[in-house]
Amino acid sequence: MNKGVPLLEAKGIVKQYPGVLALDKVDFDVFSGEVHCLAGENGAGKSTLIEIIGGSYKKDEGTIRINGTEVEFASPKEAQESGIAVLHQELPVLPYLSVAENIFLARQPRNKAGFVNYSEMYRQARKWLDIIQADINPRSLLGSLPMSKQQLVSIAKALSLDAKIIIFDEPSAVLTSVELKRLFEIIGSVKKEGKGIVYISHRLEEIFEIGDRVTVLRNGRLVGTRPIEEINRDTLIKMLVGREISEEVPTERKEIEDKAVLAVKGLCRKGIFEDISFTVNRGEILGVYGLVGAGRTEVIRVIVGADPLDEGEIYIENRRVRIKSPKDAIKYGICLAPEDRKQHGLILGKSVQENIVLPSLHRFKRSLFLDYGRMRSYTRKFVSSLRIVTPTLSQKVRFLSGGNQQKVVLAKWLGMEMKVFIFDEPTRGIDIGAKEEIRSLIRKLAEEGRAIIVISSEIPEIMSLSNRIVIMHNGRITGCLLREEATKEKLIAYSMGANHI
Ligand SMILES: Nc1ncnc2c1ncn2[C@@H]1O[C@H](COP(=O)(O)OP(=O)(O)OP(=O)(O)O)[C@@H](O)[C@H]1O
Ligand SMILES: [Mg+2]
Repeated sequence: MNKGVPLLEAKGIVKQYPGVLALDKVDFDVFSGEVHCLAGENGAGKSTLIEIIGGSYKKDEGTIRINGTEVEFASPKEAQESGIAVLHQELPVLPYLSVAENIFLARQPRNKAGFVNYSEMYRQARKWLDIIQADINPRSLLGSLPMSKQQLVSIAKALSLDAKIIIFDEPSAVLTSVELKRLFEIIGSVKKEGKGIVYISHRLEEIFEIGDRVTVLRNGRLVGTRPIEEINRDTLIKMLVGREISEEVPTERKEIEDKAVLAVKGLCRKGIFEDISFTVNRGEILGVYGLVGAGRTEVIRVIVGADPLDEGEIYIENRRVRIKSPKDAIKYGICLAPEDRKQHGLILGKSVQENIVLPSLHRFKRSLFLDYGRMRSYTRKFVSSLRIVTPTLSQKVRFLSGGNQQKVVLAKWLGMEMKVFIFDEPTRGIDIGAKEEIRSLIRKLAEEGRAIIVISSEIPEIMSLSNRIVIMHNGRITGCLLREEATKEKLIAYSMGANHI
């Protein structure tokens, strides 16, 4: 199908960081009218490759051609002028500028006197946002919007630039399912216009849904490029991880002790959620399913004292507690590994080891000193079980790939000594090889007798982890199912608001 000269052709790309060969002679091309997916485990080199194509990083070796002509980009601006738009994994936003200013950065419409014509700028921004049906005010400050909306603004910007090649670095890690569906429609229509799309994702179903071809990287090397219709799920997994893995291990329901560790009764936050009651027992994993926007994260935020509660009661081991701040929550033994892990929980300038051991330092105290040997072996255990790609334990987390940073934060929470663990979308952005490992560490915490709450939007994940599943819709609990009663159909029906099926 792809005949002629590619829109973009990268050949023999090499990129060396101190101690890490991030790309080792990688070839990659994109033709007009295709979606070329780029896949690979965390740290495989995907973001590095597209940052080079987008002019943000310099390559050490190799050539890049646009429509057959060799180019050398000294900056993202030059790549942009050649028709390449990159939607980054870490949105490099200017949070204090408005949505419209972000879209028209350095190319604002001006009036005759040379001043920025704001009303025109807002009007044009509105037009691009309307095209993607994004309900966003062009005058809002970008930083005040949730991540998913910020991503939509970047999409509007890419379209307004009339880019020939649009590169998405893991958009589904921040978009809600409704927005993702909309994104796929947008991708479908720009593809018809003859643009080339590069799409990075860890979710195989997305690759099979929108991809025409897929290229897999592993440890900076090209594993292969294949048309989607020539491969299936198993071959792709094998290309990705280079070994067989079992994707879902269903839980064997063991007897859960009937001992409530956490109980909430009639929780309410006006206008957001109401009448939320549930208990989590010792050794139990309670799944919380719902569509994005159902109020799951908001309920959790109240339980950990991040937001105030209007009504309702919280009990820890049958004692009523008042949790007014995250500090109170920790005092009662409740911890939350939040959805937005990057913002809440990593110290970018500190090492992998420092980040992982920080909340558990007391474990390593030997009289007045810290036992560095034990600290190292504790860290090494997580680095190997979660397959964290890092040259050394003392590498600053700033230099890890997006997914490996996520793994570091999770390692930090997994090692805490708490009664109640709450995980919000624990495997989002994490490659399939390490997802199962994270799930088994969560199961292990439950086996040790902790009470666990897992919020997840992935049905297979919630079914494989939970002993019981609570389903939310529009700020209310619409269903509660034992693992063995739960089916995909029931979860979807309750999450859409059905009350009794
Ligand atoms: N600025 C940097 N300095 C040193 N090493 C880096 C730097 N940026 C990336 N790396 C390393 O290069 C390798 C490739 O990283 P990259 O971000 O391209 O991975 P990725 O495939 O995008 O992974 P993910 O799925 O986690 O986003 C990783 O091992 C990472 O630690
Ligand atoms: Mg990346």
